[in-house]
Amino acid sequence: MSSEWDNYWSGRGGAQASAALDGVGVETHAGIAAFWDSVFDGLTRETQLVDLACGAGTVLRRASAAGIGDLTGADISSGAINALATNMPDVTGVVCALPETPFADGQFDVVVSQYGFEYAGAAQAATEIARLVKPGGKFAALSHVKDGAIDKECAGKAAKAQILLDSGFIGAAKNVFASAFAKDQKAYDATIKQLAGPQKTLTELAASGMGLAMHIQTGTAQLFSRLANYTFGDIADWLDGNEAEVRAYLSRMDAMRGAALSTDDVAGVNAALEQGGMVASAPEIFAPDGADKPIAWIIRGKKLR
Ligand SMILES: C[S@@+](CC[C@H](N)C(=O)[O-])C[C@H]1O[C@@H](n2cnc3c(N)ncnc32)[C@H](O)[C@@H]1O
Repeated sequence: MSSEWDNYWSGRGGAQASAALDGVGVETHAGIAAFWDSVFDGLTRETQLVDLACGAGTVLRRASAAGIGDLTGADISSGAINALATNMPDVTGVVCALPETPFADGQFDVVVSQYGFEYAGAAQAATEIARLVKPGGKFAALSHVKDGAIDKECAGKAAKAQILLDSGFIGAAKNVFASAFAKDQKAYDATIKQLAGPQKTLTELAASGMGLAMHIQTGTAQLFSRLANYTFGDIADWLDGNEAEVRAYLSRMDAMRGAALSTDDVAGVNAALEQGGMVASAPEIFAPDGADKPIAWIIRGKKLR
């Protein structure tokens, strides 16, 4: 799992980080920002806060803007933590795989997570979270909702990625390029014919707005029009790289779906928080874009002094 996220995070800075949740606009969603502002209200420069599965630091940026000075971000992906270090050099970045963390019991006043801790198995991660919160401290999270708006969007995107892979476009395109480089007219005519079906599928996916399909379509056409500038090896590498990108994207969509929490899962999280000495709030659905578009569970707990 971490390799998919690493593949995603490497080379991506904060400006592109919202694409982790394509279409949801986590980075810029006013409702989500307002939620975090309410969590951070009243906290001080000295508050010790950790964001678990922090990615490139979407929530930490908000915490910093709210004036909290002692910030830590933890994520399984070293690529994410590198992006965090670039975006927010003053934040302590830690690479670790939840549900285990290297932090001490009661190390933090505030533990937060945005579409994060649930990737590690929500109840086990909640046990760790309860361990990390100081007496008098709190936990707040926005988490994926089973059958919610993001879950549905990921299902649609995963289906498109699977169609692209099943179309066999990459293999068929490679065959065309191989025969073109070999200057084998007969093979070329045959491979062009075989490419027609997969190309139609790719064109439909691109027209439906699938970014990776658009990229592959445009790139393939450009390579073809400038064949003399490349070797077959260059082109095969580019095509293979794109196939790997589509597979990683599909895994990420599947991971997001797999992480989505049902009502029972959230009850399990709250039970684990309570077991760890916290008082858990009743779970709430967060639907800032309308009741038919739930985008998160709001999960909260506090540890009494
Ligand atoms: C959907 S992204 C959210 C990132 C960030 N919280 C945000 O809102 O932009 C999920 C994050 O969980 C991280 N992740 C997945 N499994 C993890 C695990 N077991 N432990 C720690 N982080 C994990 C991924 O690397 C990724 O950065």
